[in-house]
Parts: sequence; C-alpha cells; structure tokens
Amino acid sequence: MAIIVNEQTNQFYLHTKNTSYAFEVAHGLLAHSYWGKRVNEVPPIAELYPLTGDNLDAVDLPGFKPHSSDVLMQEFPTYGSCDLRTPAFHAVYKDGSPITKLSYKGYKVYNEKLRPEGLPSTYANEDDTAETLEIELFDELKGVTVYLYYCVFEEKDIMTRFVKVVNNSADRFTVKSLMSFCADFPHMNYDMMNQHGAWAREAHIERKPLFVGMQEVDSKRGASGPNHTPFVALAEREATETAGDVFGLCLVYSGNWFGGADVDRHFRPRLMMGLNPFNFEWQLEAGESLYAPEVIMSYSSEGIGLMTRQFHNIIRKNVCRGKFRDTERYVLINNWEATYMNFNEEKLLAIADAAAELGVDMLVLDDGWFGKRNADNCSLGDWYVNTEKLPSGLKGLGEKINAKGLKFGLWFEPEMISPDSDLYRAHPDWCLHTEGRPRTVSRHQLTLDLTRQDVCDYIVEFLSKTLSENPIAYVKWDMNRHFSEAGSALLAADNQREVAHRYMLGLYSVLERVTTAFPDVLFEGCSSGGGRFDAGMLHYMPQTWSSDDSDAVERLYIQEGLGLVYPFCTMGAHISAIPNHQIGRNTPIKLRGQVALPGQFGFELDLSKMSDEDKAASKELIKTYKEYGEVFHRGDFYKLASIFKGQNSAWEFVSEDKNTVIVMTYNIQGKIAVPSKVLKLQGLDAKARYEEVATGKIYGGDTLMNLGIFQNCDRDQTSDMRVFKKI
Ligand code: GLA
Repeated sequence: MAIIVNEQTNQFYLHTKNTSYAFEVAHGLLAHSYWGKRVNEVPPIAELYPLTGDNLDAVDLPGFKPHSSDVLMQEFPTYGSCDLRTPAFHAVYKDGSPITKLSYKGYKVYNEKLRPEGLPSTYANEDDTAETLEIELFDELKGVTVYLYYCVFEEKDIMTRFVKVVNNSADRFTVKSLMSFCADFPHMNYDMMNQHGAWAREAHIERKPLFVGMQEVDSKRGASGPNHTPFVALAEREATETAGDVFGLCLVYSGNWFGGADVDRHFRPRLMMGLNPFNFEWQLEAGESLYAPEVIMSYSSEGIGLMTRQFHNIIRKNVCRGKFRDTERYVLINNWEATYMNFNEEKLLAIADAAAELGVDMLVLDDGWFGKRNADNCSLGDWYVNTEKLPSGLKGLGEKINAKGLKFGLWFEPEMISPDSDLYRAHPDWCLHTEGRPRTVSRHQLTLDLTRQDVCDYIVEFLSKTLSENPIAYVKWDMNRHFSEAGSALLAADNQREVAHRYMLGLYSVLERVTTAFPDVLFEGCSSGGGRFDAGMLHYMPQTWSSDDSDAVERLYIQEGLGLVYPFCTMGAHISAIPNHQIGRNTPIKLRGQVALPGQFGFELDLSKMSDEDKAASKELIKTYKEYGEVFHRGDFYKLASIFKGQNSAWEFVSEDKNTVIVMTYNIQGKIAVPSKVLKLQGLDAKARYEEVATGKIYGGDTLMNLGIFQNCDRDQTSDMRVFKKI
C-alpha cells in the first residue's frame, strides 16, 4: 500500500519503495511533517519541532505547538489569515476580500493515477503500481473547494502533485496565485539548484546556497524557457552526485511557471512550484474549476544522480507517449544548416542520395518550403507549398525521397503568423495583441492567439490536410518567438490576464488532437532550440531540438544540463559542419559524432559535400548508434565528471538489462603532464565480470567501480566511447 491514512492520528503517509512523504490534519489545517527516506512513522506535528513561534505571530492555533499557522509547516497555505509567508493559493472575492481560509474536509484514495483535465501529465502504465490520494479542503464562507492530488508511483520512487480549485459559490472570484506544489522544510542547510540559459546556451546548471528571503526562477515569456527550465531542487549543502538528500521538482507545463524557495525568519524554506502568479488573474465563474499543472517530485537520499535517474525514468515511460516512446527513432538529416532557405528539389535530392548511402533514415525539410518564404520575414501562416522551389510539391518530393529509401519529414511553425502573409491579411485579429499598443515583431513574426477556438481549429485543419495528403513521417514543430503585448481580441478586460495560461490550454488541445489523429508521425518540439524544453511538450512530442547551438563543445554543457532532468532520448542532437555556424569552432568529426550519439542522433550539414573521410566516419557512427542507441535512450545515466565543474566530461550509460555499459569521455581542455583522470563506474554488478568490447580485456564489476578506468586528458578535442559487456 503506497498510501496509508491513520484516521486516529489524522496522519497521511505516501510511500514509495525508498521514500516517504507525510502530513497531518492539525486544527483543520494540513500540516506538512516529512519528506525523505522511507520511514514507517512520523511523530505528531505538535511533538516534532521545538519551535512555537514568536511575539509577532497572530495566534490562530491556541494551546497547540506551534501556536500560529505562521510557523506551522504546511502543505497548502492560503493568504489572508495568520500565515504571512508566501501562499500556495491567493484569491480575491466579490466583496473585495483577499482572505481564504481552507479547512480539511475529507479524503479519498484511488487505486489509479488521476490526471489534471486539459493539461499534460504523468500517466500509469499497466505494470505501474500507481495510487492517488485526494484531499478535499473547503472554505465555507467563500464556497471554495480545493482538491490536492498526490499520486504515488511506488516502484519508480516518484510522487506527483497537482491541484484543482472549484468555485462552489454563486459568485465568480479571482484566482491570483495557484501553486501545484508547496511544502515547508525544517531547516535551510540546502542549496537551490536550477537550470538557466538563453537562446543557444540552454539549461546550464546553477547551484547556490539558500539565503533568508525569496529565491525564485520562473518564466514570464509565454513559453517555459530558455531563461530557466521548469525545474528546481533543494540539495543538502554537502550533497554530491552520489550522496546526500536531494529534493527535485519538475513541472509538467510549458507556459509561465514559477519555482522557488521562500526562507522564513526562522530559517525554514517553503519550496513551491506552480503557475507563475506574476501577471496572472483567473476569473473563476460559479461552478467552474481551475487546475494547477502537475509537479513531478523526485527525492533521492543518494545524491543528485539518483534524482536524475528517477526523473529520466518517469519522463521516458510515464510522460512521453505514443508509438515512438519505446522504439529507436529515425537517424535524420535536417537541411537547415545545409542550405537554410536557399534550396530547391535538386539540392535536397542530392542530400538525400548522400544520406541514403550513409544509412540515414529520414530527410527533414526545414523552414522555407511554403508561401513565398525565402527569408524569415514573411509567409508564416501560408502553409501551402512553394512550387517555384519544389515543382513536384510536397507529395512529389516526399515520394522521390521515399524512393531512395528515406522517410520524409517537414518543419512547421504552427503557432505563428507573419504580418506579410495571406493569413494575416485575412485575419489581422488572429494574433496576440493589445489595442493601442504596437504589435512588436520578433524575427518578423507575431504569435497566433491560441486562446481562440477558431485559431486552434485552423491550426488543426491545415496540419491535418498537409499530413494526410503527403507522405510525411515526422514533424518539427517550431516556435521562434515568445510573447509581447500578449492580449486577446476576444477576451473581456477582466480576462486579459488569463491569456498566457489560456494559450497553453489551447496549444495542448491542438497537440492532443493532432498527435492523436496522426499516431504514426513522429513529432519533435523546438523553440529556437530549447526555448520550450519541458515535460509538458514531451507529453505530446517525445523529443525536442535541444539547441540552435550545434557546436560539439557547447552541446556538452547543454546536454549535460538538460540531462539533469530530461533523459537523453528526448534531446535532438546532430552533427553539424565546421567551422561551426554559431560559434566558429572547428572540432573533429569524432567529437561531434560522439557528443551527438547519446541524443536523438542526426545530421545538420550538406552531406552531398562531405569529405570521403567524414562520410566513412559518419557511416561508422550510424552503425554504432543503431547498435547502442537503446543503451543511451533507455539505460541509466551516471555523470562521472561534469563540465560545469571545469572538468573534461565523462558520462556513463548502463543498459536497462544491466548487461551493457558505455562510458563516453570528452576532452575539451587538453593538458600535458597531468595525471589521467580516474573514473569510478557506477551501477554495475560488483560480482560480475565485464569484457571491454574493443580490447577483449576482462574486468571485475568491483574493480571497475572501485579502481575505475582512466581518462587520458592530454589531447584536446578528443573523445572516446568504451563499451563493456557483462559476461
Ligand atoms: C529555429 C530552429 C532551427 C530552424 C530555424 C528555421 O531557429 O531552432 O532549427 O528550424 O528555426 O527558421
């Protein structure tokens, strides 16, 4: 039993194999008592912590220790009464009152995984033991019901939480803040970890000691990244990759989000994650409900690495969906960096010929195939083929590519509209805009207003038409600008601050419709690279183009950074030309290839112009990828040496059946006359013996894990892939 309720003590326990989470009802409030390594029991909250409170507290819990909700560790604090810390819920009512006082009403246990409506989320597979605890809280005066949903994936050591607010009164009220997750911690001996970035420099890992006050990361951009990705963690100050407590949160959401820790005057962090309260106001009409997206909670008592592997496992198997979830996908050639928009059928077919020779599976035609688009200043919205460039149309081109033994994939930017487009001329009010303000373009484009049903329907229609009339096996779904002047022509004044979230609900509904209608098409997300790399998008599209920076060295940072939370099977990773188009660096084909191998492997350069030597190397890389892709994609990831610590990186992957071990080493800071680096492997069977495939040498599992193997760091820009097989 993953969920245990003690009705005598009013305590609730959520247990996974190795983790427990506990709270209790105290004076009608939900008091948080524990999150950590598995325990059988937790003392009642009044006995747990010596802290009572201080002089300044409003005493709403008389005779209780703690005497004020301002010092009580809570699960879902609201604003307006005695807890003066940052709340998980804040609403304003018809009479102007900003006070919500929720009391515990009851609970239900479901033998299944419940999910938030209209939002992406985790789901249970047949072999998962998943249960859900529903806690009902109620404010009688205002008629507000809040349901907290705690879901437990017992075997996967993962819990999740999402929240539903229901207006059971006769009047509408305004939700100003709604967190998906909130829990108070008893001390602040933690660092906060998050991923920060920018265009072409996504997901760099940041770790800083907590301070008293609010530390937060968020997005106000209408997309989840790239400034930060929707992840935060608290790691014990002493925690390493392999030891110490780490509490990770990953939000299954792609829009404006918030994550942070508010450390109070008694040095106790309140860790929170949910919808970004900034510029958010949701008018909840009588009878309506609003969901806060699901947070995936990954606790590890064995350091950051285990938190990562738990995230990888749940995202890979319980967030991503569809027929491509568990299969090896396509090795693709994307023509973007090969030709940009300057292509014609002949050029594409020459690339296809070279690709077929190498064993590539698919050619993806990127931006520039539609309308009159020869530069990025027009035609988004005019999704009909440019027959000057492609005289035989998408169908003809697709068939010619298919005839060479390759599949055909296509780029779209469905959420966008160019002011210079037929679509805009016909529907100037279809973009996000605010009356009287400029419609500021980014990359010469505006964002379609996905809060509107007619706009959503239009997207589904043109995509469905193009996908059903042409032999398209893959879609790259791009989104190359984030919001500005984000208002909607159809929403009333009071509803304008709902735009960012309504946009996401619209987008998710479109994605649900399109991906359900075309289950055989592989979708890859993109937002100028990893500008919207999150678990929400991965629910519809199992991979994302990780970054517009395709340089191998930069990718070591980006892919390691993303890999803190997201499995490598979700990361598009391609070999590109040298000098690299983004930063001008020259790197050898081996390094470029071996950096791309663990991700969704492909090419982003003109294969028809590749040297024979590089072609031979590419052929070998494809062979290796076909042989070992599943180890990278479904195996366990161990970070042996981190580039963020100024080290030459080393990544280890252990196959799902534990029989194959791959160690990738990357030297980008060659140094003469320094000792080789010792890499102690992890996750092996200590008693088993392993044969290194390239050398035939045999090592004990215990030797590989304790003595380790050596990484020679004396040659710059070198890399290696060492494979060991259990014998
Ligand atoms: C974005 C993508 C690129 C490419 C271009 C096309 O920048 O990240 O990969 O598709 O758009 O315009």
